[in-house]
Amino acid sequence: MKNDVLKALKHTTEYISGESLSKSLGVSRAAVWKAIKSLRTDGYIIDSVTNKGYLLQRSPDLLSELEIAEYLHTKTLGKRIISLSEVDSTNRYLKKSALEGAEHGLAVISEMQTDGKGRLQRNWQSNQGIGIYLSVLLRPYVPPSDIAAVTQLSGLAVCKAINGFADVNAKIKWPNDILINGKKVCGILTETSSQADMVDFIVIGIGINVNNEFFGDDLSEKATSLFLSTGQKQNRAKLAATILNKLEQMLANGFLLNDDSLLEYKSLCSTINQNVLAVCGNETISGKAVDINSRGELILLQGKEMRCISCGEINTFAITKEYS
Ligand code: BTN
Repeated sequence: MKNDVLKALKHTTEYISGESLSKSLGVSRAAVWKAIKSLRTDGYIIDSVTNKGYLLQRSPDLLSELEIAEYLHTKTLGKRIISLSEVDSTNRYLKKSALEGAEHGLAVISEMQTDGKGRLQRNWQSNQGIGIYLSVLLRPYVPPSDIAAVTQLSGLAVCKAINGFADVNAKIKWPNDILINGKKVCGILTETSSQADMVDFIVIGIGINVNNEFFGDDLSEKATSLFLSTGQKQNRAKLAATILNKLEQMLANGFLLNDDSLLEYKSLCSTINQNVLAVCGNETISGKAVDINSRGELILLQGKEMRCISCGEINTFAITKEYS
């Protein structure tokens, strides 16, 4: 009901009377007034003039389903969004929903996380009202070998979405960290549940530093936000929708890199042509990153040998010596 009033107000640039709202929505004038009051409490600026009615003047920076839906053009991703004010982790929430049978495309977004998860058991700082903490559920019905590059494709989608959205030149640090001027603006945690021959579900969890004005000493050298990079506060709902739009587009042809996406990935990947130290489980591998393949693996040149790595944490170094 509140959403219906909001939809009606968003639909017009003219004042709309309480009477016509109550008639078109089939509810009482009192119910309309209650909805207006509650929307104002949420931060919507709604002007009211006697004998004219209500006019929506400004919407708050809220990650609600309705605010996101305004900019969403997808067929399935984010068609249903669970929008939370607080959660431990959107990935954890969505994995539980997946186990209970949630549908392909369901998205969970939260204003904050109390236990945001990063890769390699790290935490993801998830302060209230300034970032995007978004998880999306995929049920692709393909064998596990067919989703080898889902992590890299997600990184490519988010990187392109960010570059199209704000005046920045974001790059991908293999496999899917998004960096602006060498500092991390976005991290992606992809979690998969598979049977031997079929993927059950994939949860893509995306954390973006959007309107952070500063980072503490522990992060200030390594992290940035879109606000810190552009000097402008960004509309988080619009960015969340832009990401879902791009993600759907990039994942439409499967979960391996094809000729086009591989080319795009390589052109945005700051890891190529760098000397790399990769920690893969217990092993540390060094070499010069020379290429990426369709499975999203990083190809390292070690002397005359080539070596592919499919996962791991990498550090890059400008090339001052060739590895041999
Ligand atoms: C990384 O370590 O770079 C990955 C960070 C992923 C953080 C996001 S925030 C939304 C989703 N929920 C989580 O708990 N983690 C991911």
